[in-house]
Formats: sequence, C-alpha cells, structure tokens
Amino acid sequence: MVDNSGSDRRAFLMTSALAGAALVAGAPSAVAQITSSSKGRISRGDAAILRFLAAAEIIETDLWQQYNELGGIQDSEVPGGSGSPLYTLALQQLDGDMNQYIHDNTEDELTHEVFINAYLASKGADTVNLDKFRTLPSSKATGAQQIGRLTNLMRLTVDTSWWTRYRSRTKNPDFGDSFPDAIPSLAVGQHTAIPRTDDDVKPDPTKPNNISDFTQAIANTAGFHFAFIEQGGTSLYPKLAQRVTSVEVLRIVLSIGGTEIAHFQTWHDKAGNAPHLTNVNDPKTGVKVTFPDLNSPPLGGENFQTNLIMPEPCPFLSRNFPACSIIRPTQTMGAAMGAAQALAADGLFIGQTKEFFELLTDCRRG
Ligand SMILES: [Fe+2]
Ligand SMILES: [Fe+2]
Repeated sequence: MVDNSGSDRRAFLMTSALAGAALVAGAPSAVAQITSSSKGRISRGDAAILRFLAAAEIIETDLWQQYNELGGIQDSEVPGGSGSPLYTLALQQLDGDMNQYIHDNTEDELTHEVFINAYLASKGADTVNLDKFRTLPSSKATGAQQIGRLTNLMRLTVDTSWWTRYRSRTKNPDFGDSFPDAIPSLAVGQHTAIPRTDDDVKPDPTKPNNISDFTQAIANTAGFHFAFIEQGGTSLYPKLAQRVTSVEVLRIVLSIGGTEIAHFQTWHDKAGNAPHLTNVNDPKTGVKVTFPDLNSPPLGGENFQTNLIMPEPCPFLSRNFPACSIIRPTQTMGAAMGAAQALAADGLFIGQTKEFFELLTDCRRG
C-alpha cells in the first residue's frame, strides 16, 4: 500500500509545517497562475495541499476499514476482519445494501490515499505515511482485526448539523450561519459507532431479528457518522481546489472530491432510515441516545424531512444573488484548520499521542 519507510514518516512530519504555511496563503488561484504540469514537478504549494489531502484520506481509510471489518463485506478488495453478524444486520435496517456501500466507501478511500501518494512520488515530492501513529486499540468484538488504529470509533460525539444545513433555504455556513443538530443526543457525551465487545451485540429475543435497542443505536450512530465524515470531504475538496495552481492537480482535486459528494449523498439518504429509538442506555457508560422521528412534529418540514436529501438552494457568495443549490461550506479560508478541528471534536483521535496532535496543529495553521 503506502511506503512504510522511516524517511517517509520523517518527511511528512517535516513537511507538515510547510503544508500549513501553504494553506495559510489561501488566495484563490488567479487564472493567469494556472499552468499545466502534466510533465515535470508541481509547485510546493500544490504538493502541500495534496499531502494534507493524503493525510485526510489515510485517516478516512483507517476509520472506514474498522467499519468494514465489522459491518461491511470483507473480501480481496477490502481485506481484514470477518464481520459482526448482528451489527451488520442492524446497519441493514437503514438499507439492505449497507454492507456493500460500506465496502465500497472503504475501497474508495484506500484508492484516494494510494493515488495521491503515488502522484506525489511521480512528481518527486514527499509522500505521507502515518503508520507510526497506528497506536489505538481495535474493537474487541468478534469480527475485528486486532491491529493498531489511527482513529477511535468507540467514543464519538457526532455533529449532525449537516442534516439541517443542507435543508436550509435561507442560511449558509459561509455567512456565519449555524444549524441545529438533527440528533441532539449524539452531540452530547461519547457514543460508540461499532460494537466494542461482543456484549454490545448480544441477541435480544424480544426484538425483531434479535437486534437489541442498544445494538440498533450503535448502528444508527454509525449511519449518521458516515454522513458526517463524508460531508467533511465534500466541503474539503472544493475549499482546497481554490488554492491549487496546476490544472492537473485541480483535476485530481475535483475528481476525487466528486466521489466524496457521491458518498455523502448516499449516507444522507440512508441516515434518514435509522429506526426510531428513545432514550437508549449504553450499559457501559450510562450515556443515552434518542433517534427521533424526523418527519413528525415538533420536527419534520423542510429542516428535517427525511426525503429532502438533495441540497436545498441557499444563499451563495452574496445574499443579493438568487438562491443556488450548492455544496456548503466552500470558503477556502481556514480549510485545513476546520477539517482538523472537526475530526478532533468528533472524538476520532481520543487516545492519540501528543506528537499526532502536534502534527494536526501544524495543519491547523491553515
Ligand atoms: Fe476520500
Ligand atoms: Fe470520504
């Protein structure tokens, strides 16, 4: 997959400050600056942007791999793990094809990571390797590989405001607008999105398919987390596309970014199918979660209605223009900082080393 040499790791650590510096610059590229670089080297700024995206893709691959081992399809395309049958079944309450979609999303992230690094290498630029940070524990549930991880899916605090953000016709985060969470209880406390041990997937014979309310709550949490992750990629690529100077790097960023949008659209649709649950207790932590009926009062309407999965038109660039259906946010300023902060606030890096956070801090300078 990715070259695991120590020099590559050092290279990323050394160049992460450069990445931050390049992202600070942040000026949208003028047409006059755009040059084709299909041959020869790419600019330091373009390489730094691609390295930041490679790091993001490595992080995405790590978390999607954990989902696939337990709830996806384990095969030669996405090897590792052997599945958790009740967790997989609980996910399939959102859509019968959830395991296929999880598999495909995982494979896509892996190809993004490998491609960007290969492209950087082809241009003589430093590549990215985060293997030294694969220190976090795996789930102990049957089905998960026992290997070190970059990310932690067992203590998430999930922001679900993307749900209402994409339904608002009058607000845009690029104007400083804020949005309520669709699932407020996921934004409070820490929730696991995968079974931590087999205790989390104990059959409940009183429930349909033997799926306990808590197992279903874990799967629902995952369903909303999938979309949270992919809406982040959906915004990150257009934010950074505005800063690249090479037409070929722009092509890479637009082409990969488009698949992030495809992922988000899919997960947005599936999250709306999450079975309704009220005040489900995590027996280990006592944290509770509720998945309300988003189609019924006091919810429902345009802000919550589950079949409004395409972006509602909203203000764009200026409130004086007509509303437009767009990805949002896309403002380029603070793109790297925003992405790093959002992932950290999500709880994905709980347990990571100080050095990993220093690396993220470098990125946050953007
Ligand atoms: Fe990706
Ligand atoms: Fe993604």
